[in-house]
Amino acid sequence: MNDVILEMRHVTKKFPGVIALNDVSIDLRKGEILGIVGENGAGKSTLMKVLSGTYTSREYEGEVWLEGKKQVFNSVADGRSTGIAMIYQEVNAFLDSSIAENIYVGNQPGSMFVDYKKMYDDTKKLLDMVGIEASPKTIVRKLNSGQLQMLAILRGMATNPKILVLDEPTTALTDKEVDVLMNFLTDLKKQGVSCIYISHKMEEIYRICDRITVIRDGNVIETRETKDWNNNDELIQAMIGRKIENMYVKTPRKPGDVVLEVKDLVVPHPTIRNRNIVNHVSFKLRKGEILGIGGLVGAGRSEILEAVFGKLTEGVSKTVLINGKEVSINSPKTAIAHGIGFVTEERKLTGFVDTMSILHNTSLPSLPYLPKKLFIDKKAEKEQVMKQFTDMRVKAPSVNSMVINLSGGNQQKVILGKWLMKNPDILFIDEPTKGIDVGTKADFYKILDDLANSGMSIIMVSSDMPELVSVSDRILVMSNGNLTGELSADEMNQANVMRLAIAGD
Ligand SMILES: Nc1ncnc2c1ncn2[C@@H]1O[C@H](COP(=O)(O)OP(=O)(O)OP(=O)(O)O)[C@@H](O)[C@H]1O
Ligand SMILES: [Mg+2]
Repeated sequence: MNDVILEMRHVTKKFPGVIALNDVSIDLRKGEILGIVGENGAGKSTLMKVLSGTYTSREYEGEVWLEGKKQVFNSVADGRSTGIAMIYQEVNAFLDSSIAENIYVGNQPGSMFVDYKKMYDDTKKLLDMVGIEASPKTIVRKLNSGQLQMLAILRGMATNPKILVLDEPTTALTDKEVDVLMNFLTDLKKQGVSCIYISHKMEEIYRICDRITVIRDGNVIETRETKDWNNNDELIQAMIGRKIENMYVKTPRKPGDVVLEVKDLVVPHPTIRNRNIVNHVSFKLRKGEILGIGGLVGAGRSEILEAVFGKLTEGVSKTVLINGKEVSINSPKTAIAHGIGFVTEERKLTGFVDTMSILHNTSLPSLPYLPKKLFIDKKAEKEQVMKQFTDMRVKAPSVNSMVINLSGGNQQKVILGKWLMKNPDILFIDEPTKGIDVGTKADFYKILDDLANSGMSIIMVSSDMPELVSVSDRILVMSNGNLTGELSADEMNQANVMRLAIAGD
């Protein structure tokens, strides 16, 4: 076989109630970038956990062959020492350690003692490669989410892998950082490193991959050279088994009275003195309106939502009016009591209680509102959650499944469902479709449109440009903590958002 470096043969992996992988075979060539695409819960991450040794050879059926040799992995360390580097979907870092320590964790140079000089020198080289201008000794807590993601990639690179696996590496990256990553991967390819690239962003897949494998419900549907997937529609059809007629729906609507007014919101920068991450921002939200907030990662968009919601309070000053009346919101609890809901960006950190079932996570914020006598009405609770579960097409054996066991995208759906069920008057959503597959995105935009038509007022922070300009009725753009402009329906396009997003630089 010509220059095939890796083969996964007839891999089957079962969980209670789920066949995550069903007789899956793929191969990877030397110096190739193979894209793997598929719906949330299709089995992509599970396949990579088999490859990396996260699931040991005893925990699945099938075989992994590397450079013509059958591999038996009993741990991730085994996979790593054979040349497989895995970059996970969720970034885990030791926040209070240095960049160098994070990159070389468990892999430090030197035999008896750690060779710090070599570690710092090597780290500097890696940082230069991706254009991060920070000292290797910088404490990781100081990095932004894009830099953290890059750090995870560098940690993989430090092991000199033959195969680099990236599972949705760009969810936290700005367009510029994505460019850096793409160039970096192209260089690696030239050096003969092979790469498996998983993403829900079709433009990235088309841009970087030599071949694309589609997985659906644990089965390989097809692998083709990228150029032989004639267009996006064909690929999406293979992924979700149906056509998407209309990705974005937006019913023309006339927003009503102002329901929320924020005046002179100031959020001080957490580490830099005399700088504001949100700098004297004022805006209004109308009934039945979807107000988009655009800008680059780190411009202060999430902080606006968090501060208004009472999640961020340290040093914050603000005036908030709901239906024309001034209110004092100093905790999420008071925000919820005033009819505000919040779908947060960081699902792992703030979105759910991962040791609880889908059922209990979904009904959590709604509990005081469910019909009850003395106790929670279990039947009503379950019925409502079941409805969300079906509407959002959550892929799980049942509503009693633990959220921690769901695929990344399905966890995000549970969080969305949880707030939709609560049916707040005002809903904040932060990067709502991060990690969500294209089919579900289309469903979700339809749900948002219906909610706005029914009178819910929504503020959506999004870095997904097509989504921002297609879903919003009006857009505010932030740059470096300042509100640099507002775009009405007929001014909304990607160029105008970009222009304002860099206006404060
Ligand atoms: N530890 C586990 N216990 C039970 N079920 C699991 C476990 N891990 C994964 N699953 C199930 O296996 C299936 C495949 O999940 P996987 O995480 O591989 O999907 P994915 O393709 O990576 O999806 P996404 O795009 O949402 O990340 C899902 O139905 C998921 O719920
Ligand atoms: Mg996944």
